[in-house]
Amino acid sequence: MYASDLSPFKWDPQLETGYDKIDNQHRQLFKAVRNIMDASTSGKGDKVVLDTLEFLTGYALKHFEDEEQLQIDYEYPDYLNHRAIHEDFKAAVTELVKKVNHEGPNEVIIDEVCSIIRAWLVNHIKGDDFRLATFVKACDAQAMNEINEM
Ligand SMILES: [Fe+2]
Repeated sequence: MYASDLSPFKWDPQLETGYDKIDNQHRQLFKAVRNIMDASTSGKGDKVVLDTLEFLTGYALKHFEDEEQLQIDYEYPDYLNHRAIHEDFKAAVTELVKKVNHEGPNEVIIDEVCSIIRAWLVNHIKGDDFRLATFVKACDAQAMNEINEM
């Protein structure tokens, strides 16, 4: 068993929206958070911790872009609000990364940053992303019905 299997940052299947592409990316985000925690607690050195943090922020940006594109493609009615929530979180993460760079990636601050990111992700996935996935799946189901009725 990997040490990270015991981590509170482990992926929780209750967070599955049922829309594969979103779920896969969410799983990767959790994995990236675990990687930072592992790098931090196993004393791999500041550079590894900072690199893993950079990977996470880059991956999160890509994930948000993909989710927003999905909303555009499906003409999701809550798109602007959802995008604004992503924007707020991006700004918060930028501040956290600045703080890490300023203080140095010590274990205390890394634990704090990872906890904040995890808490935000859980909250966002359970609310905003579940609503989005429900909408997209309903659109897909309707499109399938229309094809079957042809
Ligand atoms: Fe989202």
